[in-house]
Amino acid sequence: MKKEAKIRPFWYSDIWLFPKLITIITSMDKRGRINAAPYSHIMQYDVMAKNPRMIVGFRQGSHTFQNICDTKEFVVNCPSADYLDDMMETARFYPEGINELEHTRFTMIPSLHVKPPSIKECPQIAECEAEEIVRLEKSSGIVIAKIKALVFDEELIEMGREERIRKMNLPIGLGDEDRQDYFHSTLGHISMHKLGESPDAFKGSEIRLGMTWDADALQALMTIPPMVRTMVTTQTEEYARAKGDEKVSHARLNQFAAEQGMTPEFMERFQKKQKSA
Ligand SMILES: Cc1cc2nc3c(=O)[nH]c(=O)nc-3n(C[C@H](O)[C@H](O)[C@H](O)COP(=O)(O)O)c2cc1C
Repeated sequence: MKKEAKIRPFWYSDIWLFPKLITIITSMDKRGRINAAPYSHIMQYDVMAKNPRMIVGFRQGSHTFQNICDTKEFVVNCPSADYLDDMMETARFYPEGINELEHTRFTMIPSLHVKPPSIKECPQIAECEAEEIVRLEKSSGIVIAKIKALVFDEELIEMGREERIRKMNLPIGLGDEDRQDYFHSTLGHISMHKLGESPDAFKGSEIRLGMTWDADALQALMTIPPMVRTMVTTQTEEYARAKGDEKVSHARLNQFAAEQGMTPEFMERFQKKQKSA
């Protein structure tokens, strides 16, 4: 049985479970005073290297949001799970102008492209500059920022993914209850799933089926290289229609493929060639 939950203030953290990246954002006010606080409503986007961006959701009254409105630059520092207590210390409501980092084990280091400092103990850092600021009425302030630099502990950059995941040991934020109790998790079991698709496989999603395909016919179609899958789809449907079929069956697809000389051996060769290309 499912039941609708009441949407209460802070629903996105209290009821809606959403494993989050834990970050500490460092910023500066107009007078050059440093501020640090944890932020987790953060998302990286824009896949292309030309415009890497970061989007962050802030309480509009927070010092960090006010600083970003005033001075635009900020740094997203990702601490390892060893520093969760220090990260929580930076969440306390210190008066304006107080540098929370001075009450932690964190060390400030100069950033490469922006004025606010970075945190030495954080293995993964993004230096950002606000590009667009949206103030939602009676709600959050959303900052869309350009990433000026992604900075890592040197040894991490060339490290294999699984080793890097373990070495960084980033905590996973699991939300809070009543703004008092914050839940975090650390890495346990890591699983890896292979998608088993070639780099051009996304082309397959552009195909529009003109007929219903049986499940096994569709699975067989998915094994055909994306480069020729559209052509095979259209031609198989034409072939099936000419035979008076209402649906494309696996048997009909095999018959069509065999007539075209697309034997399993031929298809395997084709796929190998594609992988080595
Ligand atoms: C793990 C964690 C994640 C948080 N994420 C956010 C967030 O994404 N947005 C937000 O407005 N506040 C968030 N907060 C609350 C702010 O860190 C908190 O209000 C802080 O005092 C703001 O400091 P500032 O006024 O110096 O910016 C988070 C707190 C914690 C502990």
